[in-house]
Amino acid sequence: MAGFWDRKSTSDLLREAARADGDAETPIFKRSLSALQLVTLGIGGIIGAGIFVLTGHAAAANAGPAVTLSFMLGAVACAFAGLCYAEMSSTVPICGSAYTYAYATLGELIAWIIGWDLILEYAVGAIAVSVGWSGYFVSFMRDFGINLPQQFTSAPLAYDVNSGAWSATGAVINIPAMAIIAFVTALLVVGIRESARFTGFVVVVKLVVIALFLATAASSVSLANWVTAGNPDGALIPPNAGPGAFGWSGVIRGAAVVFFAYIGFDAVSTAAQEAKTPERDMPIGILGSLVICAALYVAVGFVLTGIGWLGPFIKLGILFGLTSVILIMLLAQPRIFRAMAHDGLLPGFAAKIHPRFRTPYVSTIFSGTVAAVLGGLLPIGLVGELVSIGTLFAFTVVSIGTLVLRLRDPELPRPFRAPAIWLVAPAAAGTSLFLMFGLPLDTWIRLAVWLVIGLLIYAAYGRRHSRLRARGGV
Ligand code: ALA
Repeated sequence: MAGFWDRKSTSDLLREAARADGDAETPIFKRSLSALQLVTLGIGGIIGAGIFVLTGHAAAANAGPAVTLSFMLGAVACAFAGLCYAEMSSTVPICGSAYTYAYATLGELIAWIIGWDLILEYAVGAIAVSVGWSGYFVSFMRDFGINLPQQFTSAPLAYDVNSGAWSATGAVINIPAMAIIAFVTALLVVGIRESARFTGFVVVVKLVVIALFLATAASSVSLANWVTAGNPDGALIPPNAGPGAFGWSGVIRGAAVVFFAYIGFDAVSTAAQEAKTPERDMPIGILGSLVICAALYVAVGFVLTGIGWLGPFIKLGILFGLTSVILIMLLAQPRIFRAMAHDGLLPGFAAKIHPRFRTPYVSTIFSGTVAAVLGGLLPIGLVGELVSIGTLFAFTVVSIGTLVLRLRDPELPRPFRAPAIWLVAPAAAGTSLFLMFGLPLDTWIRLAVWLVIGLLIYAAYGRRHSRLRARGGV
């Protein structure tokens, strides 16, 4: 049993992080990202379906005008976790992110579980978002009079969330979903600098769309729009109408729903080995992107319920927004795989870095291919909340890990120290667990099934090939 709890020593990790340029035989990542580019990557991963699509749902079904409070609650939960991620990624700047932090603090088994769990956030997240992208692309083309055939723009399978039954839709394959993943994967293989430049362009477009929306909406906001059948007095928090429907319970349920909108800031930490000065810039990238997006979300949440309509230009913003979210998720996923393969928990070829492009090309192509095939075949309903629960689980473990490392290795140089760690880390774990409990039981069951599959794979492969175990642990 002892091997399960073996930890990677922080000195080993720091040596790995400090390695300078590789050579043709052992190429390593290219350090090219500045603080601004890291903030941009964060915003690229954060702003997407959550703000453009889910906000409307959360306002209509859960929080009403108080959806802006739901965004604030979500921001608080993410801020606690973000501070822990900022500390860990500046202290142990390795591309494995939460997986690596868990390996250094809680041992190999928990690290594997988190690495496996992160597939739900990144690969499954990219699949879900690519299916959403396809839907908006079809609708966007229709606005220009181009009708794409439904047979080749939607999934051949449908899933009924309520009955759990699968059925055939008559469609063949979702080609736009596959195409956007293929495009993004090609970009990610070619280079981190190219990917960051493209993300920069997309982020500017979506920020302009949000700014235009805020500017247009602000002039037509009227609190009179808050008065509805369920909210006769036009209160900020409409009267409660059952669990999760308005009132404070609606605000909280709304926070669990819009949490999805914040997912992505943590992906910045997977670019730690490609940052020029990770010790300083990881916290800037993680916390900077989170603060900017939280401010925008709270503002959008406020004006959205004050106007009650969406301009058509939003569709373009959504398309751009979703593209960069897919890109950042498919940037993060292979880097986690790369770290796991580097440690022997996945086959070694997944750790390969391209000699010229200096990207983890094998794991990038593998992640992109699997995501493209599943994006072409699967319906979106199956996976949405799974992404949130997987992410919240990772947040919980990273926060606990941050505290454990402070206790275990108090002298370790920490370029960024989260303030009041005794408050922040338990609050991060607590709020993440709290939001997890806001998600339905069947999402929990799917998480459990996924983790059991992961444990079987670990038993069959990782346990036998672990490099740390081969060396006899720490
Ligand atoms: N935060 C990302 C989105 O809203 C996942 O699409």
